[in-house]
Amino acid sequence: MNLIMFGPPGAGKGTQADLLQKKYGYAKLSTGDMLRAAVAAGTEVGLKAKAVMASGGLVSDDIMIALIRDRIAQPDCRGGFILDGFPRTLTQAEELDNMLAEEEIRLDRVIQLKVDDAKLVERITGRFSCKKCGAGYHDSFKPTRAAGVCDECGAGDFVRREDDKAETVTSRLDAYNRQTAPLLPYYASRGVLVAVDGMAEIDEVTRQIDRVVGEVEKFAKNG
Ligand code: AP5
Ligand code: MG
Repeated sequence: MNLIMFGPPGAGKGTQADLLQKKYGYAKLSTGDMLRAAVAAGTEVGLKAKAVMASGGLVSDDIMIALIRDRIAQPDCRGGFILDGFPRTLTQAEELDNMLAEEEIRLDRVIQLKVDDAKLVERITGRFSCKKCGAGYHDSFKPTRAAGVCDECGAGDFVRREDDKAETVTSRLDAYNRQTAPLLPYYASRGVLVAVDGMAEIDEVTRQIDRVVGEVEKFAKNG
């Protein structure tokens, strides 16, 4: 199963991609995570991306396409992948189509997490993650089970993203609405776009996505 998780900042793309990865073993290809790792490691890509990410804008298509081209050709992607945060421009979407055609890989579904923009700031500014294992949480919507202890690895250090300040979130939302939302008709016209209610509780969103995955699998089996 090859999926794209699609939606604005804070829609729940990463949360749902993590759950799908755990449940089905698909490779998770998160461009935001890749860029944050590059910034932390101080690589050439990281140095170029740092200021752009801090401003809430989009990193150049050339950099992003090269990152995904390398990653998607790796063997673990053959068992299925979930793209989280890519593509974000029409050029990225067209290049993705070319890459998939070259590798003879089919894109099964683009899952659009439909959300109310007004609620996203609260989601994003309340987000934090475990410094050691990266597990994601939210102050109100997904707190750790025991205060100050990661559910996944038991560590006690947490971090917040630099671009999660309220003022940067507005620029990120603006970039989404201007450059990324126009991809929705692109995928709708290919018959792969499915919308789920991203405002529902996390478990309910997962159930809706599970239903989409189940239907695609059933259709593939009955051929
Ligand atoms: P990226 O890391 O992709 O950030 P984003 O798209 O802004 O999305 P987020 O990670 O903020 O949100 P999410 O949808 O993953 O939500 P989450 O599941 O965490 O990109 C960062 C930057 O990198 C970009 O701004 C850009 O500069 C650059 N970049 C990356 N890819 C690029 C590309 N292809 N081209 C160019 N530049 C690129 O959920 C948010 C919070 O809400 C969490 O705390 C979670 O616990 C909670 N939550 C999740 N679901 C629910 C729910 N259903 N109900 C209640 N709370 C929920
Ligand atoms: Mg994310």
